[in-house]
Amino acid sequence: MRQLRLAGLLTAMSLLAVPGIAGPEHKNLQVLPRTITNPELKKMMEGFTEQLGVKCTFCHVLEQYEKDDRPHKTDARRMIALVLHMKAKKAVYFGPRVKDAVVSCGLCHRGQAEPEPFVPTLLPNLTFLVPPTPAGSRPKNLQVLAKTTTPLELQKVMDGFNGQLGVKCEFCHGMELDKDDRPHKTDARRMLKLTIDMKASKASYFGPRVKDTVITCGMCHRGKAEPEPFVP
Ligand code: HEC
Ligand code: HEC
Ligand code: HEC
Ligand code: HEC
Repeated sequence: MRQLRLAGLLTAMSLLAVPGIAGPEHKNLQVLPRTITNPELKKMMEGFTEQLGVKCTFCHVLEQYEKDDRPHKTDARRMIALVLHMKAKKAVYFGPRVKDAVVSCGLCHRGQAEPEPFVPTLLPNLTFLVPPTPAGSRPKNLQVLAKTTTPLELQKVMDGFNGQLGVKCEFCHGMELDKDDRPHKTDARRMLKLTIDMKASKASYFGPRVKDTVITCGMCHRGKAEPEPFVP
């Protein structure tokens, strides 16, 4: 029952912990565990087609699955590496609440071959009730952002959070902005680390084409405090 609900990738991950299963005849696996069985691989590949809204031929020439003659297969390999990395560091980035199955291609792709770019709109009801740090005073309690971040740079990041999550400053802050008195601030710190790590490894996960500005909170949140679960 549990198995049925899980995205294919989870199956592959659990295999990492069970290296004893004999590897079948796959010839050219470079990121997936070589121990993956045929049914597991099939399930995962079917998951890719659902989560990206494509056919097998988007990445493969039919019946020549081991060949690397379709550029999308190379793109997909990088993205598999990203999802495996996010799953391995799930507790660090997502915290304990988030289910493993949520961390999948569908989190960003949502049934599209290319995730639609998210353009934040500052909604008129998003008034900044909490005043920004007084000019000249340095942030005191940055644990993820560089300590050298200026108040102006910080303001931009924080305004970005509001637009990308569709929330106000009070979603994460009480009156004293350097205090850690709201749980969402802790959540946001973890997610900020994820976003910074993805940017730092942009070339290995996203390739050269993707702009830095695409890799933001909005990529998953799309203007919502909690990303909507993707159901294929
Ligand atoms: C979004 C791209 C994508 C789609 C869609 C996709 N695949 Fe794959 N497939 C891959 C990648 C990437 C690998 C190699 C993974 C690796 O290197 O670890 C792979 C590997 C395979 C392999 C193993 C080949 C070997 O011997 O090395 C088979 C078989 C396969 N896919 C079948 C399918 C089938 C059947 C479908 C449709 C149901 C499908 N794939 C859909 C990206 C895709
Ligand atoms: C963290 C968000 C995220 C996740 C998770 C993710 N992708 Fe992507 N993917 C992107 C972005 C962003 C692009 C680039 C779109 C563009 O070129 O504008 C992309 C592009 C691609 C492309 C190239 C599409 C094209 O038309 O050029 C493929 C193929 C792909 N992803 C496969 C996958 C697969 C398979 C998975 C799951 C193993 C996955 N992605 C997981 C964000 C993600
Ligand atoms: C989604 C959560 C979130 C929202 C919304 C948000 N912040 Fe933040 N804010 C954070 C996090 C997380 C940090 C700490 C970053 C770190 O540790 O590197 C922070 C740090 C700050 C700091 C630095 C405090 C210090 O001295 O250490 C200021 C100032 C600040 N935010 C102001 C704002 C303002 C003003 C808004 C609204 C425009 C806002 N924030 C909206 C999460 C948020
Ligand atoms: C790779 C996708 C992804 C990215 C990028 C991302 N998040 Fe999230 N975020 C999630 C998921 C998934 C959840 C969990 C939703 C749930 O609990 O069901 C979440 C939850 C949260 C929550 C808790 C929300 C709640 O109501 O409990 C906060 C706060 C948050 N994210 C802030 C951020 C911020 C700030 C950024 C950018 C620095 C960011 N996220 C980037 C996927 C992402």
